[in-house]
Amino acid sequence: MTKVTGVIAENARSLYEVINSRRDTRREFTGEPLAEDVLQRLLSAAHAAPSVGMSQPWDFIVVRDPGTLNAFAEHVAHERDTYAATLTGERAETFARIKIEGIRESGLGLVVGYDPTRGGPNVLGRHAIADAGLFSVVCAIQNLWLAATAEGLGVGWVSFYREQTLASLVGLPAPVRPVAWLCLGAVSTLPDVPDLERYGWRHRSPLAGVVHRERYSPRPN
Ligand SMILES: Cc1cc2nc3c(=O)[nH]c(=O)nc-3n(C[C@H](O)[C@H](O)[C@H](O)COP(=O)(O)O)c2cc1C
Repeated sequence: MTKVTGVIAENARSLYEVINSRRDTRREFTGEPLAEDVLQRLLSAAHAAPSVGMSQPWDFIVVRDPGTLNAFAEHVAHERDTYAATLTGERAETFARIKIEGIRESGLGLVVGYDPTRGGPNVLGRHAIADAGLFSVVCAIQNLWLAATAEGLGVGWVSFYREQTLASLVGLPAPVRPVAWLCLGAVSTLPDVPDLERYGWRHRSPLAGVVHRERYSPRPN
């Protein structure tokens, strides 16, 4: 058994508390630099994730260069406009008020890549479900997100980008696929309510509506 010691143990909150206080952060970043030892703890948490056939198919590119942060922020702004152009009426007005990234403000971007060649051609458990590799990368992201929450840090997942553009920006070789840009850093607070709820975009649905017993049953409208 691994013993949890030191600072982490002193500040430990219950796992459920961490899960329920995790938030996607955009406007709360303070820009305070993230210490290397903290970053290492977060990356270790990500690297401890389960993975299909133990393939560990993830890569983490730590981006601090302001030039790269700026270039990505500009690309994301363009993609935001592309998405906004698909909206009309109340949806367009509501979306206009929502901030969708904190790329410059966080001062640190973590690009998470998926390498489908990791673990060789016969990854145990992936023969019938190719996506199982991708699922593994998302497990690593969630580990990091929860670890960051436990450390009192913010994470903002940005997906307003074209994969080829981000791959070129940080030099991902084919076939490594970017799965996420995570804005990571110190925050003034972790809000109680998700931004999308606060702005009336969407609300968290009741658990009962997504739990089925024995067989799938259609949701009542
Ligand atoms: C795969 C994925 C992509 C996301 N992309 C974005 C994004 O581009 N911009 C953004 O502001 N939030 C993004 N989010 C965050 C969601 O909007 C957020 O998780 C959701 O509104 C619930 O809020 P919470 O995470 O604070 O509970 C993304 C989340 C996931 C899991």
